[in-house]
Amino acid sequence: MRILGIETSCDETGVAIFDTKQGLLGHQLYSQVELHAKYGGVVPELASRDHIRKLIPLIKSLLIESQTQANEIDGIAYTAGPGLIGALLVGTAVGRSLAWAWQVPAIGVHHMEGHLLASMLEKPAPSFPFLALLVSGGHTQLVHVEALGKYKILGESVDDAAGEAFDKTAKLLDLGYPGGPAIARLAEQGNPNRFHFPRPMTRQQGLNFSFSGLKTSVLTTWRAQVEKNEQTRADIARAFQDAVIDTLIIKCRRALKQTGLKSLVIAGGVGANQSLRAGLSALAKTMAINVYYPRPIFCTDNGAMIAYAGSLRLAAGESEPLAFSARPRWSLETI
Ligand code: KG4
Ligand code: ZN
Repeated sequence: MRILGIETSCDETGVAIFDTKQGLLGHQLYSQVELHAKYGGVVPELASRDHIRKLIPLIKSLLIESQTQANEIDGIAYTAGPGLIGALLVGTAVGRSLAWAWQVPAIGVHHMEGHLLASMLEKPAPSFPFLALLVSGGHTQLVHVEALGKYKILGESVDDAAGEAFDKTAKLLDLGYPGGPAIARLAEQGNPNRFHFPRPMTRQQGLNFSFSGLKTSVLTTWRAQVEKNEQTRADIARAFQDAVIDTLIIKCRRALKQTGLKSLVIAGGVGANQSLRAGLSALAKTMAINVYYPRPIFCTDNGAMIAYAGSLRLAAGESEPLAFSARPRWSLETI
């Protein structure tokens, strides 16, 4: 079965073709980062309009790259939520319409399920059950993944998501958008011993997170500095990144102990962070468990994870009727 996947939930237009026998045949991504950078964040209306411009040309170019004719596509998967409603509607409408035109089944995929399963595109791939750390711009969750569609959220952020905290902190330090890669780059030059920020909610029991207070620590520290130079900026970026990573590692260790699970899977844009990956690999070693990551380009939004999740859903016999809908909010536990 050969599945076309379409991702348009936020500021990346991603498409891919996944073949259940041959694996990933091709994937293409157009990032709108430059379009939104001057506004310091994603402008939803501009995002929708740009998906409209880019999606069809990207699919055409993907078919060529994947040496696939339209009549060789057996199903279409598109992100149906959660995300920006206008952006979601572009991918949903195009995906559902192409499926109708090509007379193949269509499936609306939950964006976070795509992230959750993305590491299954890699070798070695994790197998169910596993603990997933989902860290993106909109979500920070620890999920007990029992099987396809059987997801239990063990803990989540009560305020800002980890990626959001990176983005907001980058804004405070005038590092531009998106913040995660900018902070990660700068943190490499930072002194880890100059500043120390709290590890929120790690003294309390439970697996929830809270990252919004870290912004305030960053802001007050930055404002208190007489010399606002590059080194100070790098030292603050380092202390912030260390605080987020430590917090995530502490909660992962707790969740692994609590569940007894032996595999940890990382997903979502913050999963591209090399220091986080190194920290979790070290944790896995001390706990004698296995850790799995998607390649960095499949940590952030992409079409491959949607094609893959869609292929599993279609293979399980699911499909959508002709009347489609997109959901800006959608709980992972209800799918
Ligand atoms: O998964 P994703 O592409 O989109 C959502 O579903 O939200 O995640 C985007 C988030 C942004 O907040 C971005 O700043 C963050 O992932 N991010 C990173 C890195 N690369 C992307 N955060 C930390 N370090 C990185 N290297
Ligand atoms: Zn995402």
